[in-house]
Amino acid sequence: MRYLTCLLFWVFPWVWVQSEAQQKNFPFRCLQISSFPNSSCSSTDGLAWLGDLQTHRWSNASDTIDFVKPWSPGKFSDQQWKNLQRIFQIYRLSFTRDIREFVKMVPNIHYPVEIQLSAGCDVYSENVSESFFYAAYQGEYILSFHGTSFQKAPDAPPWTAFVIEVLNGDRGTLETLQWLLYDLCPQFVHGLLEAGKSELEKQEKPGVWLSRGLSPKHGHLQLVCHVSGFYPKPVWVIWIKDEQEQNSTQRSDYLPNADETWYLRATLDVEAGKEAGLACWVKHSSLEGQDIICYWDGRNLSTGLIVGLVLLAVLICAIICYVIYTKKRCSYQDVL
Ligand SMILES: *[C@@H]1O[C@H](CO)[C@@H](O)[C@H](O)[C@H]1NC(C)=O
Ligand SMILES: *[C@@H]1O[C@H](CO)[C@@H](O)[C@H](O)[C@H]1NC(C)=O
Ligand SMILES: *[C@@H]1O[C@H](CO)[C@@H](O)[C@H](O)[C@H]1NC(C)=O
Ligand SMILES: *[C@@H]1O[C@H](CO)[C@@H](O)[C@H](O)[C@H]1NC(C)=O
Repeated sequence: MRYLTCLLFWVFPWVWVQSEAQQKNFPFRCLQISSFPNSSCSSTDGLAWLGDLQTHRWSNASDTIDFVKPWSPGKFSDQQWKNLQRIFQIYRLSFTRDIREFVKMVPNIHYPVEIQLSAGCDVYSENVSESFFYAAYQGEYILSFHGTSFQKAPDAPPWTAFVIEVLNGDRGTLETLQWLLYDLCPQFVHGLLEAGKSELEKQEKPGVWLSRGLSPKHGHLQLVCHVSGFYPKPVWVIWIKDEQEQNSTQRSDYLPNADETWYLRATLDVEAGKEAGLACWVKHSSLEGQDIICYWDGRNLSTGLIVGLVLLAVLICAIICYVIYTKKRCSYQDVL
């Protein structure tokens, strides 16, 4: 119902120009999740994203990396992908073997073991990129890879030093990782950015509606402004009263919708009876400078507006019908 009270306003298109310019980076992130419940069982799953769009998936049960998007292969050829698949298969086997070895060697590591790796690169321009590699043990960040070697995280337990010493003694691993992070990753991401351009730059308009939330305080109302279905992620939402920002607006986190768009809500606590004139104001790049403003108490306005719109529609219809009717008659007369 409150949908109807939302209006589109054409204001300050320049507000978005600056923040949009900062939105052009799409970091490529791979996440590996490895679980070792005991000495005889393990599983390793992988996921990859470009920006906030998932591009690849590698399930423990599969020998091959799945392409989530039609453009997930990037500009790599089938042969290049075959070689990569082979490298990652070998990597997965040796990773599992190495972790089991570490559990045997290091008394402080116990089953069940959970390892998470986050690695990838952020390409800024043709020759400028930044690569990263982080590892976590039981959910705590323990080490990273920088330049040519592994390094201990500041708060990692002392036994991490031994693990790092072993890893840094393995030339083959160090060289492969350097090649993957600093050569292959930026090269792949360049192709991926090109192949996925249209989807990465898509613009989805938000839908906005208002509802009443659960109020924590007696005699107060919680007004909720829901903003959903927008892409890309950055959105600007505030509650206003008589064009004044209400500084107690509380924004939720961005939550993903199933269709790769985003949802967010902004809530405002007000004293009961003081909600007149309150409105939710939304700016998003897809609106191209038009803003959405939804009034909490705009029902009367909207009823008037609907009646007006219906009358207008009827009038336009009548005019069109008349024009078509007269035109038809004319053309028949022409033929006859
Ligand atoms: C190891 O863990 C798996 C999965 O939790 C379980 O099914 C299996 O029975 C365990 N094996 C041993 C030897 O404890
Ligand atoms: C994961 O894959 C490995 C190798 O194919 C297999 O031995 C293991 O049982 C799998 N783990 C699970 C939990 O399915
Ligand atoms: C990037 O590096 C290549 C080879 O090193 C060079 O030919 C090219 O001009 C560089 N591009 C830019 C924009 O610096
Ligand atoms: C909100 O604004 C009012 C005046 O407009 C001010 O008194 C108050 O301190 C502000 N609160 C916060 C949290 O900034």
